[in-house]
Amino acid sequence: MGYKVRFVEPDVHYRRMKQEIDSAIQDVLARGDLVYRDQLRKFEHDLAAYVGAKFAVGVNSGYDALHLSLIAAGIGPGDEVIVPAHTFVASVSAVVHAGAKPILVDVAKDYNIDVRAVEHAITPKTKAVMPVHLNGRVCDMDQLMTIAEEHDLIVIEDAAQALGATFNKKGAGSFGLAGCFSFYPFKVLGAYGDAGAVTTNDEDLAVKIGRLRYNGEDRQTGEYHYHGYSCLMDNLQAAILGVKLKHLQNWLARRREVADMYMRGLSGLTDLQLPHFDGKENHDIYQNYVVRTTRRDELVRDLKKNGVEVLIHWPKPMWQHPGLELTVSDLPETEAICQEVLSIPMNAEITDENVQYVTKTVRRFYSG
Ligand SMILES: Cc1ncc(COP(=O)(O)O)c(C=O)c1O
Repeated sequence: MGYKVRFVEPDVHYRRMKQEIDSAIQDVLARGDLVYRDQLRKFEHDLAAYVGAKFAVGVNSGYDALHLSLIAAGIGPGDEVIVPAHTFVASVSAVVHAGAKPILVDVAKDYNIDVRAVEHAITPKTKAVMPVHLNGRVCDMDQLMTIAEEHDLIVIEDAAQALGATFNKKGAGSFGLAGCFSFYPFKVLGAYGDAGAVTTNDEDLAVKIGRLRYNGEDRQTGEYHYHGYSCLMDNLQAAILGVKLKHLQNWLARRREVADMYMRGLSGLTDLQLPHFDGKENHDIYQNYVVRTTRRDELVRDLKKNGVEVLIHWPKPMWQHPGLELTVSDLPETEAICQEVLSIPMNAEITDENVQYVTKTVRRFYSG
């Protein structure tokens, strides 16, 4: 079905960027700069500076960023890693594939990990905690870092949805031992395929991930230091991301403008909770604009019928997928969220007119 208001508009995005992107691609192809060339080194340098970390290492995906960070941090069999239950499955799969046990804990009203639940979940086997900065909002990193220090836990941030978001003016991905980013096409900074990166202030970790992503090889000496993986960031994607990174602040400003328009247009509806939370420390970037209502399924149907494309992140708690073999205790907030949330169109390309159409359609639904 063709929607009047699409969730994302990658074709519009490309048309606006066409000249710059085409020229970056042609440059890479003409030079034959295909594997780990200047474009990747430059993107890593610029990304680290943007995030506020000393190093960035480009990898194949956000998942690989998480997986390699866990392995490089020495997390493996016998270890427990605390992860929020309300996250994309890749956060948890990375822990499983590192050989450790994910301990799923509940989230708070802002959809981010519940700091009290983290404290309760700590056992002698806990080696790390993975805060996920969901929907473009950084977790309360003051409290989380304090807990981590008290219990000697490694912090691996899943910042896949939060490039450019800050907490006390510090960038997502610059708090823990490692910050993990995804440049999946529909992220705020999206490649034309899969890509990801790890940011860190720890040189040893950066070097180790730099080798792990390339079959364990030190490219200067040719020495294979360990059995690694093939998950280097593609040089062509790095060139494209380098072009796009220069525009990111403008795109994030537009997202915040759209979020403000939604807030003005949708506030006052009793059954509709909007993602504008307390917390002066936070500067959110709205990777997703998630609203919450007890009439979620009806609202989704109504919006779709009226030509508004919406998504649900996520309709079923992770532990209810038997194939994932996850065991959990009581996680009431995550369970309720799965029944009540929907994400409405949010991107830097959406027009004011389309934002108004969405708000009008939602208001009409509630006025019966
Ligand atoms: C919270 C979160 N973690 C991890 C990932 C994995 O990133 P990728 O799709 O680049 O592997 C994503 C991507 O959707 C994500 O949203």
